[in-house]
Amino acid sequence: MNHLVSPSILAADFGNLQHDIELINQSEADWIHVDVMDGMFVPNISFGFPVMEAVKKHAAKPLDVHLMIVDPDRYIKEFHDRGANGITVHYEACTHLHRTVQSIKELGCRAGVALNPHTPVALLEDIILDLDLVLIMSVNPGFGGQKFIGNTYKKFADLKRLTSGRKEDLYIEVDGGVGEHNVKDLVSAGANVLVAGNSVFSAAEPSSVIKNLKNPA
Ligand code: DX5
Ligand code: ZN
Repeated sequence: MNHLVSPSILAADFGNLQHDIELINQSEADWIHVDVMDGMFVPNISFGFPVMEAVKKHAAKPLDVHLMIVDPDRYIKEFHDRGANGITVHYEACTHLHRTVQSIKELGCRAGVALNPHTPVALLEDIILDLDLVLIMSVNPGFGGQKFIGNTYKKFADLKRLTSGRKEDLYIEVDGGVGEHNVKDLVSAGANVLVAGNSVFSAAEPSSVIKNLKNPA
């Protein structure tokens, strides 16, 4: 699978969100990453339904919704109804993860599970065949612009071992501290969806960063 790029609008200009979404629409990006934070699961609050609706109104690319919230079951249908194409929940936030994953899939959404940096990939052993996507957090979730955690590379190898021969079409997403400096290494390690916030939106020309993430030199 050629890798995908999913720019995170957490780093966009919220005073001019339509502009930044149109920029993604016209770029080589594949998805739009939407980070929802509740101030409980993570120590930060990002945005909720009104912003999600505004994003959907202008987005021409699928919405890749990353829920950093406790007990996400409460809101899955609402994010689906507001246009999520994929919904990723955190392993650490779900007591009945199998049920949560099934309810995402029943709505016709791509189902993803995110792992915090301290959570071993091996804990997905009994759910991996039900998943469309695994999101490997390469920073502690909650904020954009953090430093990539090096141990992440080991997790791609662990995931490869866990899935070998039985889950070739899995989306393996990496989120946090991703940019032009590490894209090549991440793709060779096995990531096939790259989330990038600050590296895209703090650049003078975000669409050329997206292009370079899509086509690393
Ligand atoms: C962090 C979020 C990320 C964030 C990434 O909790 O899940 O998606 O936007 O930001 P950068 O790319 O700046 O590390
Ligand atoms: Zn995210």
